[in-house]
Amino acid sequence: MSDLYCVFGNPIKHSRSPFIHTLFAEQTGEVLRYEARLAPLDDFQGVWDDFVAEGGLGANVTVPFKLDALQLADVLSARAQRAQAVNTLTCGKNGKVYADTTDGVGLVRDLTSLNAPLVGARILVLGAGGAVRGVLEPLLAMGPEAIFVANRTASKARELAANFEDLGKVSGGGFEASDVQAGGFDLVINGTSASLAGELPPLPDTLFSAHGFAYDMMYGAEPTVFMRWAEPRAAATADGLGMLVEQAAESFFLWRNIRPDTASVREALRHSLLEKK
Ligand code: ATR
Repeated sequence: MSDLYCVFGNPIKHSRSPFIHTLFAEQTGEVLRYEARLAPLDDFQGVWDDFVAEGGLGANVTVPFKLDALQLADVLSARAQRAQAVNTLTCGKNGKVYADTTDGVGLVRDLTSLNAPLVGARILVLGAGGAVRGVLEPLLAMGPEAIFVANRTASKARELAANFEDLGKVSGGGFEASDVQAGGFDLVINGTSASLAGELPPLPDTLFSAHGFAYDMMYGAEPTVFMRWAEPRAAATADGLGMLVEQAAESFFLWRNIRPDTASVREALRHSLLEKK
């Protein structure tokens, strides 16, 4: 039997991870299976135990099990610890479960390949939920001038920013905060789930600097609501498809110790999205 990996979620039917990892495996010659598995909302531990009993070697974890994955892990990576977020589980030969988060690295690699402003940039991150928690530390590692985290529930943004207090570069508040309303950001990353509902946080027309870049962590066959709003206001826009492929590549590397080529897989995924439209 080939080595077994999977992604757990609920719902999970629309997950693109099996598509991505299957292409990674073909490309690198690694012999493995990668499945999408639906986990019941109240028994993540149960499906995980079954998976391990079947010989499963590692898994990605998506909504709503990221916290369950954190609790189940025996060993947390430093970046997962700081982010309090987990998207990759690996079974060690010693029987221990190792947890890591690859979302932040995935985002930064995609932004870098898109030539988005990072070094010395004024960055605005919209949202303070699970999607955002994992990305602040890798963004900070790129040496921005400052990061402002804006959230509908302002207290959550302030709490998240407080985790990085020692670095003195991250602050947080509501959308109405003067930093947000003053605008002039070089990079704005939408990490809210508002676009899922076709909604948009209240943002000023002057949000972007002259070379401002708009990035949505969500993706789809069509540009997201945030991207459509940003198009006439920003110098460039991008969706989160590249982030999805890059975070998958980092998980694949953790499991197989081989870095797949992401550009060809990104293209194949975009193509398959457009075909299904
Ligand atoms: P995820 O893991 O996708 O980040 P989450 O932890 O539930 O999911 O967080 C969702 C994020 O989107 C939160 O920042 C949420 O704001 P609140 O903390 O105020 O709930 C944000 N969000 C969801 N719907 C939104 C909307 N319609 N407008 C603005 N922000 C929204």
